[in-house]
Amino acid sequence: MKRIGILTGGGDAPGLNAVIRAVVKTALFVYDCKVFGIKDGYDGFLTEDGIIPLGIESVRGILPRGGTILGAANRGNPYARKVIRDGKEITIDVSDEIVKGIEKQKLDALLVLGGDGTLKIAHELAQKGVPIIGVPKTIDNDIGGTEATFGFDTALNIASEAIDRLHTTAESHHRAMILELMGRDAGFITLHAGIAGGTDVILIPEIPFKFESVLAKVRERVAKGYNFSILAVSEGAKSQDGGQVFSRKGDEVYVPRLGGIGQKIGEYIEQHGFESRVTVLGHLQRGGTPTAFDRFLATRYGAAAVRLAARGGFDRMVALQAGVITDISLVEATSTLKRVNPKDEAVLTARGMGISFGDE
Ligand code: F6P
Repeated sequence: MKRIGILTGGGDAPGLNAVIRAVVKTALFVYDCKVFGIKDGYDGFLTEDGIIPLGIESVRGILPRGGTILGAANRGNPYARKVIRDGKEITIDVSDEIVKGIEKQKLDALLVLGGDGTLKIAHELAQKGVPIIGVPKTIDNDIGGTEATFGFDTALNIASEAIDRLHTTAESHHRAMILELMGRDAGFITLHAGIAGGTDVILIPEIPFKFESVLAKVRERVAKGYNFSILAVSEGAKSQDGGQVFSRKGDEVYVPRLGGIGQKIGEYIEQHGFESRVTVLGHLQRGGTPTAFDRFLATRYGAAAVRLAARGGFDRMVALQAGVITDISLVEATSTLKRVNPKDEAVLTARGMGISFGDE
């Protein structure tokens, strides 16, 4: 193994730089192998200066840094790229150009740090002969076959700190405070932060809710003399009769942008006589320094991905199972999105704490 490429695709997540650092160090120190960084996801293979050598100096000091030194692109689907041809915007498939770009680099392995979308593309490129290995990244923690993706723990800590801060002001003003959190299809951030922060309501995509039930919880608390409530709501939460709420439509390149469910719930509660305020935590959950847990996990993933490359374990992804780093096929990792099981112990625990999921 002489040359490894590494890219970061999709939305960023705290810990990307920690993986890059671990890959560079392991490749150099253990295998005497050169590492090349591909800029802006798969796009780097298509541009003149899209590939940079990564040495020890390039990764010095990046372990605690959020973001990615390589840049990311969540419009970077090689199978659907928007380009202007003859003054018109069209969508084309550039996957063959990317494969050529990869071959030109004579890479012995390409490590792809990404979420569901990026890893599905990785598997398709593997079918075209690219020696690809995936590393599971996403704050949503929704990749199959692994207990944890890096970035989740950091997002969770930011979300539960936000809940703590909302608690004090909610209590002072006797308000219902709604916190809209990230989580497109999976409610792990909201469920875990809601339990860790002791919210009164948790709304997640996996458990469709009724507006009346959410209101009933706020009413019940007021009747008991608790004049404030905290509601943690996933951006992807859906009402039983209304579905998800979007702030922007999608197309072949961009997925529809979620946003607005918190505001809807806030308005409903106010219409029924309870003062409320809505906070959208948004990309604060993705930015900044990773927690120690995420740095540790990211470093283990990066080192394991290089070892897997040395063994020729392509079209596979490093994963955490029962606390041990292992690897699974990219097909297994991407065939089903990991979601909260409504019958899961964490949901039962939350219900036992008196938390409402707005479904009863
Ligand atoms: O997939 C991670 C995620 O944080 C989702 O929870 C969210 O819907 C999405 O990224 C937003 O990404 P962006 O604003 O970068 O398009």
